[in-house]
Amino acid sequence: MHVAIIMDGNGRWAAQRQLPRFLGHRAGAQAARAVIEAAPSFGAGTLTLYAFSSDNWRRPAAEVSAILLLFREFLESERLRCLQNGVKLSVIGRRDRIDPALAAQIDQTESETAAGAKLHLRIAFDYSGREAISSGRLGPDVDLLIRSGGERRLSDFLLWESAYAELHFTPVLWPDFGKADLANAFHDFARRDRRYGGLGELELGNGEHGKIYHVRGDRWLR
Ligand code: FPP
Repeated sequence: MHVAIIMDGNGRWAAQRQLPRFLGHRAGAQAARAVIEAAPSFGAGTLTLYAFSSDNWRRPAAEVSAILLLFREFLESERLRCLQNGVKLSVIGRRDRIDPALAAQIDQTESETAAGAKLHLRIAFDYSGREAISSGRLGPDVDLLIRSGGERRLSDFLLWESAYAELHFTPVLWPDFGKADLANAFHDFARRDRRYGGLGELELGNGEHGKIYHVRGDRWLR
């Protein structure tokens, strides 16, 4: 199962506390660590986190620098944890507008963690869904897309991959998002009748107890 998350609300979380925005992002990175740790126990095999969109370059230079620094710290701190916990880390998005030292750090983290089989963690950085579609760099289908922070939009994230994704929006600001919120999102997902353009269970008459069928493409999944 592929879960994708738009981690929104760091700035508002900081503003509510009269803190500078970068402290909101720092708290957001901590929330991301907790979610990465919890995701496999909910059945997620792939987790894609939107850390920085191609449009985020338009933010004030100080904020962009703070996010870049947090990303470097994140890669450094997660390297060992990924190796210890069987997490394969990849970064999706452009590499040509970031510092070559950061690009090298990404390459190294990716190759060191490549054998991780428990979770595929994908960090979207300098990422644009439209750009990914136009250059043919597409990833696996998203099953569940979560956005924190109360907005209800995709903001150029995994547009092609989310064609049949279930969407879960929560007002919780990202730094406050924890394991219980993830559990809520999965619970919400489990209740949905995924049809992929076909008919639902009731219409197909497969509603016997204990049997759940999904139609995906032309295959029946139980
Ligand atoms: C959206 O909040 C969040 C971002 C643009 C950055 C997300 C970055 C992190 C969580 C830190 C790095 C994390 C990792 C995993 C590398 P916002 O600033 O748009 O919040 P607002 O809508 O309340 O202003």
